[in-house]
Formats: sequence, structure tokens, C-alpha cells
Amino acid sequence: MTAPLQVLAVASEIFPLVKTGGLADVVGALPAALAAEGVLVRTLIPGYPAVMDRIAIGETVKEYPALHGGAARIIQTSAAGLELFVLDAPHLFARHGNPYVGPNGKDWPDNAQRFAALSFAAADLAGGAVRGYRPHVLHAHDWQAGLAPAFLHYRGGERPASVMTVHNLAFQGAFPAELLGAVGLPPKSFTMDGVEYYGKIGYLKAGLALADHITTVSPTYAREIRTSEHGMGLDGLLRLRAAQVSGILNGIDLQVWDPLTDESLPARFDAKRITKRTVNKLALQSRLGLAEDPEALVLGVVSRLTWQKGLDLLVSAMPMLAAQGAQLAVLGSGDAPLEASFTAAAAADPTRIAVQIGYDESLAHLIQAGADAILVPSRFEPCGLTQLCAMRYGALPVVARVGGLADTVVDANEMALASKAGTGIVFSPVTLDALELAIERTAALWRDRSTWRAVQKRGMATDVSWTRPAAQYAALYRTLVSSRAP
Ligand code: ADP
Ligand code: GLC
Repeated sequence: MTAPLQVLAVASEIFPLVKTGGLADVVGALPAALAAEGVLVRTLIPGYPAVMDRIAIGETVKEYPALHGGAARIIQTSAAGLELFVLDAPHLFARHGNPYVGPNGKDWPDNAQRFAALSFAAADLAGGAVRGYRPHVLHAHDWQAGLAPAFLHYRGGERPASVMTVHNLAFQGAFPAELLGAVGLPPKSFTMDGVEYYGKIGYLKAGLALADHITTVSPTYAREIRTSEHGMGLDGLLRLRAAQVSGILNGIDLQVWDPLTDESLPARFDAKRITKRTVNKLALQSRLGLAEDPEALVLGVVSRLTWQKGLDLLVSAMPMLAAQGAQLAVLGSGDAPLEASFTAAAAADPTRIAVQIGYDESLAHLIQAGADAILVPSRFEPCGLTQLCAMRYGALPVVARVGGLADTVVDANEMALASKAGTGIVFSPVTLDALELAIERTAALWRDRSTWRAVQKRGMATDVSWTRPAAQYAALYRTLVSSRAP
């Protein structure tokens, strides 16, 4: 039995306390999965109101009389089965709603300070600020935690190994160079191999430059981000550090996503009782005002509505979707013009197209359990979780061949079907034509119900759990720790 390894994770979101996307799901699910690998994770998160309201009474383990303009403290506590450190800094985090954006729809003007504070506290904890707590690894997630490996690097002295995980290279956290001193970085950090990024302070860049290892959430994305097409300005650095970049696929939490016990569903089911899905389909159609027809192909979408997700192409594909006799159920929120296009399409054809703008977990589950297929036409997708939920819930994923979508869905092409393989439809390039052809293929497969059923069952039998990925993270942590040992 190997000794337990202690990991300090730091992130700005954690399911079920605060979530804007898949980052929260991953940060929330990894600790339990890693526990099975003998890895003990404690996660540092900001003390947003949604967090402060849910945590157990904890112990103040560190106080900062003045942290970016106010008193702050770190509370060691727990909530929803998660071991936590919470950075309670009301002047930075006691704001309701979206963690990054204020009521005017713009980023909070002090985001640089807010997430520098989070990262500083992480480095402080990792460096031994709390007596009796000496993690072996600091694991930073996304730009909000990107300065943590940097603070750790510049403080010097003994330190744990550090890992920077990129969930989405599109969000980089770049702030004016003038803030260098204000956010607590030393002047010497403002170099090309430090935090400097095209004349600004790059939070994600800092983590990528200074962490011992970089992971991202799928092997394909780990390669894509080293190309100028997908590197979003960071490909040069990522090529330079290629030997320290790896991809570990996401899983999903099989307790949160279990069609046999899911309380959001009118009919619970598994692969053996797959016909019960029809009850969910009819419930979905009825809830959204779609024509209640078990024979109509229902395509579902659960997504942020942004350029990344390629859903503007779906808006353009509506006429052909109608020609195929398909229905569409969309749940999402994001860019106002895209929300408006979907809303208008639904208003024009309400029994065929339904759109719910907003965030709704129980509807997300019902769509996964009631739609026949789930569309994910992303232009880029670091991993994607909804196609994994879809497989688990017996909805066929119809996905673009990018990033983690390419790594998780096996295209049910002729040869695949002949050899009893294939779990969905995979298309490329990400264009309107290719999306329309993919929808056409989906509709053709739907008409061949026994083949459809076989593909659906293979999806349901696919291991989308955290078991394998957690073992890969654990192995990575152990390698990093042993390579730092004196
Ligand atoms: P991303 O993190 O890029 O948004 P992922 O596919 O990794 O994409 O994760 C999205 C997560 O958010 C999934 O758990 C999905 O079910 C959930 N989700 C997205 N939009 C909504 C919504 N409108 N309502 C409820 N859940 C949503
Ligand atoms: C990001 C990505 C998504 C990924 C998620 C969790 O938000 O857009 O592809 O699944 O993070 O890693």
C-alpha cells in the first residue's frame, strides 16, 4: 500500500456549490475519484455567497489583515462531501450571481485582484502557511488559479510539485502590466518565461510557464493547443513545454448521472429497460410544448450558447432539421444574439422547436434522458461532458471531431457498424454543410431502429466514469513528487 498523497487543488468553481460550466463538475468529482487511488484532495475555493451559505462551521486556519483592500481569512471546512479551504474575503467575493461578471454584464473590474488573492492563498497554503498541512502537490485549475504556481515559484524555498490544468484556453485572464505590484508579483516576474504575456500579465500563461507539469482535459486537445490554429496565442509556449504537457480525459460523476436513480426523471431506466426512455421523451415533449410523438426524432442541446459551441450553425440548420421531421430541444444561456436566434426559431415553430434560456439542472437531466440524440457541434472542445452524459443516458452523441469529442465518441460508420462498434456520429469540418450531413445521417440511423438501438446500448456500456482518469492523475502526481524528492 502506497502512502496517501495530499493534493491542494485550487479552483474558482466546484459542483454542487458554484458552477458555470464543466470546470465545476471536474473539480467537484475528482476528489472522490482520487480518494480511491489513495490521494487526499482538499480544494481551495473563493467564499462566494453560494459557498458561505453551504459550508459547515469550520476553523479559521489563516488570517490576512489586508489582502487586496480588506481583511480575509482561510477557513478549513467541508460541504457536500468535499474537503475545503474557503477564502473568505467579503470585499472580493461576497457578490451574488455569476462569479466573474457583475450585474451590468461586464467582468468585475477587480477580477485581477480577486483571483490573484485566490492564487496567493493557494501558494501560501502549499508553502506551509498552516501548521500540520504540507501538501505534496498544488493542482491549479484554469486562469483563475493560474498565478498559484507563479507565486509558489517566486516565493522560493521548499515547495510541493505543481500542476496546471487547462480546461479552456479561450479564457486566459490577461490584465494590465501596471497591476504587477498591486497583485503582489515581484518585478522580476515580468519576463517572457514568467508572467508577461504580450505586454500584459497573463494569469493562465503564468501557470503554463511556471508549473512543473501541464495537463489538459483530453489527449486530442493536448495536441491541438500546440498548433497555431487552436493555441490561442499560447501554442509557442506549449510547444516549448511539450514534454510537460499531457491530456487526461474527463469523466462524469456516475452518482450525479445515474439514469436508474435520477430523481429528475419521470421514468428511471438502464440498458435493460431502455424502452422506458419513451416515458421521459413524452414528458420532455410535453414540458417544452413540442408535439408529443414518440416516433419523431428529438435532438437535444444542453450548452453554453457561445461561439465555441458552434450552435450558430444549428440555427442555420433549422430548415433542414424540419425537412427531416426532427424536433429540437435546447437548454442553454450565453451570448444574447444567439439566445435571441434560438428564441425566434422556437416562436416560429413551437411544436417542433423548443428553447429554454437559462440554467436548469433537472431539465438538463430530462433532456439527456428523453432526447434521442444530443448535438455538440463545437468549434473546439477541450473535453466536453454532455456527450458523456448522453452516452450514459442512452442519447446518441452527434459531435464535431475536435478535442475531447473526438476522443470520447466513436463514429458509427459502415465498418464500425459491421464490426459492432460505434457509439455516435462524429463529423468534420465544423461547417453548416457537415453539420447538416451529420443530422441527415442521424435521421437515417433513427429510421433503422435496430441499428440505432445497438449504437445506443454501446454508448450506455461505455465507461465514462472517473476511474481511469483518476488513476492517470494519481500516477502523474506520484511521478512528479518522486522526481522532486531529494
Ligand atoms: P463547458 O464547460 O465548456 O460549458 P462541458 O460540456 O464540459 O462544457 O460542461 C458543461 C456542463 O454544464 C455540463 O455538466 C452540462 O450539463 C452543464 N450545463 C450547460 N448548460 C447548462 C444549462 N443551461 N442548464 C443546466 N446545465 C447546463
Ligand atoms: C471547459 C471546456 C470543456 C471541458 C470543461 C471541463 O469548460 O470547455 O470542454 O469539458 O472545461 O474540463
